[in-house]
Amino acid sequence: MSLKTVNIAIVGTGVVGSSFLEQLLSLKSNYIKYNVVAVLRYDSHLISNDYSSLPITSTNWKSYIEANAVKGALSPAQVIEFLNKDTKAPAILVDNTSNEEWAYSYPKFVNSGISIATPNKKAFSSSLELWEQLFTGNPKDGLVYHEATVGAGLPVVNFLKEIIETGDEVEKIEGIFSGSLSFIFNTYSSEDIEFSEIVAKAKSLGYTEPDPRDDLSGMDVARKVTILARISGLKIESASSFPVNSFIPGNLDKVPTSQEFMEKLPEHDDEIKQLKEEAAKENQVLRFVGAVDVKENKVSVGIQKYSNSHPFASLKGSDNVISIKTKRYTNPVIIQGAGAGAAVTAAGVLSDVVKIAQRL
Ligand SMILES: NC(=O)c1ccc[n+]([C@@H]2O[C@H](COP(=O)([O-])OP(=O)(O)OC[C@H]3O[C@@H](n4cnc5c(N)ncnc54)[C@H](OP(=O)(O)O)[C@@H]3O)[C@@H](O)[C@H]2O)c1
Repeated sequence: MSLKTVNIAIVGTGVVGSSFLEQLLSLKSNYIKYNVVAVLRYDSHLISNDYSSLPITSTNWKSYIEANAVKGALSPAQVIEFLNKDTKAPAILVDNTSNEEWAYSYPKFVNSGISIATPNKKAFSSSLELWEQLFTGNPKDGLVYHEATVGAGLPVVNFLKEIIETGDEVEKIEGIFSGSLSFIFNTYSSEDIEFSEIVAKAKSLGYTEPDPRDDLSGMDVARKVTILARISGLKIESASSFPVNSFIPGNLDKVPTSQEFMEKLPEHDDEIKQLKEEAAKENQVLRFVGAVDVKENKVSVGIQKYSNSHPFASLKGSDNVISIKTKRYTNPVIIQGAGAGAAVTAAGVLSDVVKIAQRL
């Protein structure tokens, strides 16, 4: 049997991009040749002018790129032109950045027949118009897979799309979608610790963004919930078109620096402890959740209370948990596990690449 060749261009060699390259270059397939023809970085690039695989392996790729990359970034338009010049093999763009310029250029890739695999949420959680452009279903268009945009490598996005394609209808999705907020609230409810202390601990362990307010604002959860709501059939205009109840206390969203925020956070420990104690009196715990209620056409993000026997209450560490109730799954499907991390996220992106390559 002859090998099917698929050209692959990879943007971003950060945490996820590095792990993705290691996994892809270690992949052994008897029927698909994953031909890495371009690696694109913020300030440099490396392309294979004759479309043969770049001579990189899972162990030498970093040093090879450092030594051979050409200075200067390539634009999305230049990459489309480069990939389209090889008419013998279909192409996949793997976008491992959180960059908006790349995300907003996906329609141009897709319209020229290039498929996309990405963990970058930006394109799928911005305007509804962009979402609709990406999933119009023109047979000549490239395919778009984005499993790792929600729950990293956990099987959420493709599972939802598959059950909907077979005629199921989503009724309700609820979940803890942020690893950092999961860690903060799981630990806060099980330990005798001040809220400011657990936020500082999460920050020092690298679980939060450099400014923890980027997590506590709930905007990252809002982006994930927007994606799930749209897959479920709701016409959500954008990630800011529904209530997002930020957990940044007082006026601390106005404080100019992250350091000042961390210094002032202890002033709010008592009011947050009161919420925790009120919940505990009712045998409940606090969790930061995103929810999609399809029947009620409602999407929300914020703090909720759950009884100690609820699956969300027993969550450990920084895990994600997602509960999906549908017309067929009247007892919700619960998907739980690591919702962040280089290896699992890269594996989510790689499984999308494999699916696309099989379908092309
Ligand atoms: N880390 C996780 O656990 C996780 C989980 C789920 C989803 N994600 C998503 O995965 C994506 C990547 O996350 P990450 O943690 O790997 O971030 P990261 O370490 O910051 O890596 C992103 C990389 O993208 C590259 N980049 C940025 N702008 C670019 C541009 N205009 N052109 C080319 N390259 C550009 C950067 O430069 P270089 O290529 O030059 O290094 C950077 O290293 C994000 O969308 C994130 O939300 C991450």
